[in-house]
Amino acid sequence: MKEIKRTTVTAALPYANGPLHIGHIAGAYLPADIYVRCLRARGKEVLFVCGSDEHGAAITLRAIKEGTTPKAIVDKYHAMMGKAFTDFGIHFDIYHRTSSELHKETSQEFFLKLNENHAFTEQEEQQYYDEEARQFLADRYIIGTCPTCANPNAYGDQCEKCGSALSPKELIDPRSTLSGAKPVLKSTKHWYLPMDRSQQWVEEWINTGVLDGVQQHDAGEWKPQVLGQCNSWLKDGLRPRAMTRDLDWGVPVPLPNAAGKVLYVWLDAPIGYISATKQWAKDQERRDPGSSPGWEKWWKADDTRLLHFIGKDNIVFHCIIFPILLKMHGGYQLPQNVPANEFLNLEGQKLSTSRNWAVWLHEYIERWPNRQDELRYALTSLMPEFKDSEFTWKAFQDYNNNELVAILGNFVQRVFVLCHKYYGGKAPEPGERIDQDVALWSNVHANVEAIAISNDQFRLRDALASAMNVARAGNKYLTDTEPWKLEKTDPERTRTVLSNSLNVVAVLSIVLDPFLPFTAAKLRRMLSTGTLSWEQAFRTDLIGADQQLGASEHLFKPIDDTAIASEVERLHANRPVETTPTTDQPSPIKVVEAKPNISFDDFGKLDLRIGTITAAEKVAKADKLLKLTIDIGEAHPRTVVSGIAQHFTPEELTGQQVLLLCNLEPRKLKGIESQGMVLMAEDAEGKLRFVKPTEAMPPGSGVR
Ligand code: MF3
Ligand code: ZN
Repeated sequence: MKEIKRTTVTAALPYANGPLHIGHIAGAYLPADIYVRCLRARGKEVLFVCGSDEHGAAITLRAIKEGTTPKAIVDKYHAMMGKAFTDFGIHFDIYHRTSSELHKETSQEFFLKLNENHAFTEQEEQQYYDEEARQFLADRYIIGTCPTCANPNAYGDQCEKCGSALSPKELIDPRSTLSGAKPVLKSTKHWYLPMDRSQQWVEEWINTGVLDGVQQHDAGEWKPQVLGQCNSWLKDGLRPRAMTRDLDWGVPVPLPNAAGKVLYVWLDAPIGYISATKQWAKDQERRDPGSSPGWEKWWKADDTRLLHFIGKDNIVFHCIIFPILLKMHGGYQLPQNVPANEFLNLEGQKLSTSRNWAVWLHEYIERWPNRQDELRYALTSLMPEFKDSEFTWKAFQDYNNNELVAILGNFVQRVFVLCHKYYGGKAPEPGERIDQDVALWSNVHANVEAIAISNDQFRLRDALASAMNVARAGNKYLTDTEPWKLEKTDPERTRTVLSNSLNVVAVLSIVLDPFLPFTAAKLRRMLSTGTLSWEQAFRTDLIGADQQLGASEHLFKPIDDTAIASEVERLHANRPVETTPTTDQPSPIKVVEAKPNISFDDFGKLDLRIGTITAAEKVAKADKLLKLTIDIGEAHPRTVVSGIAQHFTPEELTGQQVLLLCNLEPRKLKGIESQGMVLMAEDAEGKLRFVKPTEAMPPGSGVR
């Protein structure tokens, strides 16, 4: 095996097309952060890079959905995600972005070098083109009928219903999600990566760890599910894959004969790890001239180890495609491991952005301020390391109440209360140690050792359990020794017990830091110590006699059933009503039958205005109807009865702008006179969306 001097850790660049939820965090970012913090505490040299993935259909589709530009989308979500990471103590050395100039240069250079090395084959291909939108259609921009199960809304790359992998040309009756038009086949040239040529070495490297005669990792060291996914791909045989796309959002292909083409986002994004490293080195140099060791050793040196933390949907990109690219480029180290996690489910269902079935970080932090460690703890405890797992609010409550409060908080609080009470907030002088103390310490140190071992094996649930065992050992020691009773009869023994206990808290401030950084910082303040090294967790005398302790800080508080019930309720209430499973893609189109032409005069008869909903309530005995009060700039607001109760809750409607047909003959519904009609767009699944101005307008604004 190679000798390792430093570790480059990457966490999957999240698409800047939406906010982060707990699934992202449990999948890649939290494990990476814990792993890195643990290595750092142990004095290892680590670089931890991440950034926003700002290109590709994920972004352009979102822009269409929000009615804005890709640039506006990535700016918004890059800022939002960066903040969420910081808020949750997920600390990268750099959080970069792939829309930066440096990234463009880096990925273009990378592409050119690959091209120079004959890594690509150029191929003319027939691809679907939308003549109305005047662009070639990426797989996800095409929907049609699945040839396997006849699902009418299958995507160009996959049918969500039966799971078959598809190519756009297999779809029956394909249509463009951009315009609804029937796409036509048109010839276009692309740069393909002939992955089949790499089949042999990839297979050997992944399974035996041997690459070019050097043992890079131990056979069987990678997680079974990672190996499993790779091997199932390899078994099918690697095939050429296009590395360019016809799109106007992305890194332009830097060749003269490639106008209108950009790098495939899956070539562009992983190179983002490299450009992030370059930017980090630049920033470092600017802050402290002469200090930067440069970026290259983090990617190219033999004694550097590269690790990719990702979710399971990214496995083949990081284990097969990116390594092929790195090797074809030359000079780069290949990943030594790719510790991918499985998926996290939520309250019995798949997390879903479009169905709003998620716990969003930015919302969590608002509703549970200063309680990030509680979420980190729960997510680590049930992290989907080897199989899918499930987050429930009940589990969150249990982890908090039964572990953080009852064990960790209880132990620390008792130690500090007694030290403040008996010794005026100074650490006591210990006396002779007896067997009970020796047993405590051997238990503690065995667990400290176990944390590091588990961490090195990417078993972070186990690592956290061992860290909590340290608190458990301390808590039990206190319960067994009962210093609050002992003080009257044996003050010397009491001092020994509390000195040992304080020192266990000091160990906790070290070993909990990777998992609960906010709590560890509190412990350090309470102990009046700075950051201690991992080695020091094997000492028993970190807090010496007479050391002045800081004030006791609040650690954890119990969470009651009402708070949990309200979270669960909120989750269900905020969910759009439709039940068909959808992904985070635009809705399938409801095909509208064309109607005969009308004259301009006919159109002119419509009194269309922008209104603002000022109140909404359910209509008694009508489960489809809502009574809306809509301001259209008249002296009295209109009352409109609308059949949208199964799509929206009254609460979410107030303030909403709508397009109102104001001169529709008034009619009575359930005894209420409806004075107009709210216009809605509908998709094939019957999902409704408001039609409204892209920016708020004064109520009553005319529409023509
Ligand atoms: N943006 C992708 C996703 O969210 C992951 C990209 S990882 C990288 O699934 F390697 F490409 F950066
Ligand atoms: Zn199907």
